[in-house]
Amino acid sequence: MKVAIIGQGYVGLTISAFAGEIFDVIGFDNNQKIVNQLNSGLSHIEGVESSVLQKWIKAGRYKATTSGSDISDVDLVVIAVPTPLTKDRRPDLTYIDAACRTIGDNIKKPVLVINESTSFPGTLRNYIKPAIERYSTTMVEHLYAISPERVDPGRGDYNQKNTPRLYAGLTTEASEKTQEFYSKFCDNLVEVSSPEVAEAAKLFENTFRQVNIALVNEFAQITNALGISVYETLDAANTKPYGFMKFTPSAGVGGHCIPVDPTYLAAVAEEHGAPATFIRRANDVNLEMSKYVVDRVQADNGGSLQGKSVLVVGVAYKPNVADVRETAAELVIEHLRNRGAVVSWHDEVVGTWHGESSAPLSGADIAIVVTKHDSVDAKSIVASAPYVFDTTGKIKGVKGL
Ligand SMILES: NC(=O)c1ccc[n+]([C@@H]2O[C@H](COP(=O)([O-])OP(=O)(O)OC[C@H]3O[C@@H](n4cnc5c(N)ncnc54)[C@H](O)[C@@H]3O)[C@@H](O)[C@H]2O)c1
Repeated sequence: MKVAIIGQGYVGLTISAFAGEIFDVIGFDNNQKIVNQLNSGLSHIEGVESSVLQKWIKAGRYKATTSGSDISDVDLVVIAVPTPLTKDRRPDLTYIDAACRTIGDNIKKPVLVINESTSFPGTLRNYIKPAIERYSTTMVEHLYAISPERVDPGRGDYNQKNTPRLYAGLTTEASEKTQEFYSKFCDNLVEVSSPEVAEAAKLFENTFRQVNIALVNEFAQITNALGISVYETLDAANTKPYGFMKFTPSAGVGGHCIPVDPTYLAAVAEEHGAPATFIRRANDVNLEMSKYVVDRVQADNGGSLQGKSVLVVGVAYKPNVADVRETAAELVIEHLRNRGAVVSWHDEVVGTWHGESSAPLSGADIAIVVTKHDSVDAKSIVASAPYVFDTTGKIKGVKGL
């Protein structure tokens, strides 16, 4: 069986690496640089080893391409393109639309189309299917299914094989074929009654995290006002063996999922006249954490940051990945610069970002730890400035949340 995977980023390349064990995989991406790199056997995604890619390339089972004609003879297509927000924070389906056009323009025989991109309930039925049909130049009846992705880049214990995967087709045949495809590399498939349930479940998983992170971020402000340690209090609460799940505070949430997906749910809720108050408020609390952190740092440093050199340690949105999408570091830096601080950042995992390079981990007046990669030694962070503020809870003996 020949499989096309549209989008060779975190999700698409991860699927390609697993599917390449069994199927012939065409990785379609519109970024020529990524395609060239992949065809030379170099992975750009944490968790996808270059050696695996090289093995599939050598066996003739993987090829990346920017050319739509390369996917014309496939049997199955997976859509794994970005689903961001527009400037006014509405769901942005332009990448999905472009993927639908690629399918419509190039695939003339019936295939199974599976969407893995995260979007609101109804996207497969009311958006993807009609768009592909609209773009198809010949009358062709594809099968359609959804199987939302749960990959957690950089995670060692859970992967495509052992993470349960939801799926649902628009028809029974689509469900059966979807099950057949994923069962080759995933041990636990969970069928739900409609694509809308699978789409909503994915959004709710990330909304659950967003709301709980906001709650603990607010709690960190309460414990600070009360003069007690948020971490000790959370550890104490976590001794309860049931009905409690520990989340930890931070400078805000980042990544492509948690700051974005709940807004897809809120948008569709409000469109249907249902409330989304928790989602909206949680988003605000998480966004405001960067200001809270900078306020605390400013208060501890004589009430002004004007002219002070501030080193932001860790700008990736989470430890041990180079991903800076929606990173809380962005807002922290913005607040610092607006207050006259001279800001640099240290993150050798990220390397370069916004045209700036990672600065040495030393010589600042103030250091604010936003993300702590395992490769960065806590002692070096403590030594990098006379005042260190830690938002991660991983550095002992310094100020922090
Ligand atoms: N990253 C995660 O951890 C994660 C987890 C679960 C779900 N998701 C969801 O999966 C989807 C993809 O996310 P990602 O993190 O893989 O994104 P990504 O940015 O890492 O990768 C997307 C890739 O798609 C390519 N692309 C964009 N438009 C294209 C087009 N029209 N045709 C072909 N290629 C195109 C880009 O060049 C890029 O390489 C999103 O809906 C996201 O919400 C992501």
